[in-house]
Amino acid sequence: MRMVDLIEKKRNGKTHTKEELDFIIQGYTNDEIPDYQLSAWAMAVFFQGMDEKERAALTDAMVHSGDTIDLSEINGVKVDKHSTGGVGDTTTLVLAPLVASVGVPVAKMSGRGLGHTGGTIDKLESIQGFSVEITNEKFIQLVNQNKVAVIGQTQNLTPADKKLYGLRDVTATVDSIPLIASSIMSKKIASGADAIVLDVKTGAGAFMKELSGAKELAEAMVRIGRNLGRNTSAIISDMSQPLGFAIGNALEVKEAIMTLKGQGPKDLQELCIELGSHMVVLGRQANTLEEARELLMESIHSGKALEHFKTFIKAQNGDPSIIDNPEKLPESKYKLDVKTDKEGYIADIVADQLGIAAMMLGAGRATKTSEIDMAVGLELRKKIGDFVKKGDSLVTVHSNNNLVDEVTEKIKSAYTITEEKVTPPTLIYEIIN
Ligand code: URA
Ligand code: CA
Repeated sequence: MRMVDLIEKKRNGKTHTKEELDFIIQGYTNDEIPDYQLSAWAMAVFFQGMDEKERAALTDAMVHSGDTIDLSEINGVKVDKHSTGGVGDTTTLVLAPLVASVGVPVAKMSGRGLGHTGGTIDKLESIQGFSVEITNEKFIQLVNQNKVAVIGQTQNLTPADKKLYGLRDVTATVDSIPLIASSIMSKKIASGADAIVLDVKTGAGAFMKELSGAKELAEAMVRIGRNLGRNTSAIISDMSQPLGFAIGNALEVKEAIMTLKGQGPKDLQELCIELGSHMVVLGRQANTLEEARELLMESIHSGKALEHFKTFIKAQNGDPSIIDNPEKLPESKYKLDVKTDKEGYIADIVADQLGIAAMMLGAGRATKTSEIDMAVGLELRKKIGDFVKKGDSLVTVHSNNNLVDEVTEKIKSAYTITEEKVTPPTLIYEIIN
């Protein structure tokens, strides 16, 4: 096989065989096919697309480009959740203990955040002592014992995706449904998931700004999952504003505690229950979504979900007393309110802007080696549809430095206030399974 022929084939709109896709991905991973040929091929895929079989074969080739995690020693159906980005998305912190509390094993392999979207591990590490540096054996033992554990990414997972994603980033070929879908699904499958629930975000703060694109991506991923023997469901949810109120590591842990008590932000709770219900059904702990929803609500109201969070924290050397005393989590020196000088209805909140503001405070990493300040971040006081009077607080800034002017400006410019009444956005647009 020659790469040049395969580029020509795709350029002319033909369909690749599984052998051809294996050849491309293996060759690229082993540095036998150069970047310029892969770039040309990715551009051909961008314009010509891929059919369902090609997408599954490409994903499978990427899964096998590196290590795969074997979770077969964990009892039950391992269900993983993936969210396509977003700002201040606290769902994983809530869902892991919540679905584990009703018997679904959660074996979470997670990363640290880069840029303005925080990683789940960073958030958990704001809890004194919490460690994800555990052996694979310990990880499996903890999931069998408590139904939940989180481990850092240590193995060489999907190296083909890392290399290809980097290349796509600089060759204007990121925005291709088959390439995005195979990239995301290969990582989930390589980390050992039996079943997958996808939270595909849409709106200004999301990767997929339009609902039609989000739907297309969700359907592509669900099909790939099915074709590779992983039951997959997708939810398309709103990211036209940040989810919940908190953006920042310790602030999001506090928000997760409130949500597990049934006292969290309505949108965050609703999305967690929806995603959680799908996880519970795929994990075979309920037969219907309604039954699953009831199980989860009951776990929240009885205190079982919160107790499970405590067990999970303790098992990974974290200080479990933060559950009853959240004030023990890192707190910033300064708290100040960004006030509006306009009266009206909140029409828009640019999520990315708030994410960047939180990063400027130190809640996220500007570069891979930046240190994170666990205490800092933003607490939203107003969301889309809310009415505000002059002088009302839009956001409370939790800060440890004096560089607040720039941050305040960013926050103010993220909010649009209008005279006309505004309807809050729909939270869940569609369910695909
Ligand atoms: N996220 C991924 O992991 N891969 C893509 O290709 C796009 C977004
Ligand atoms: Ca949040």
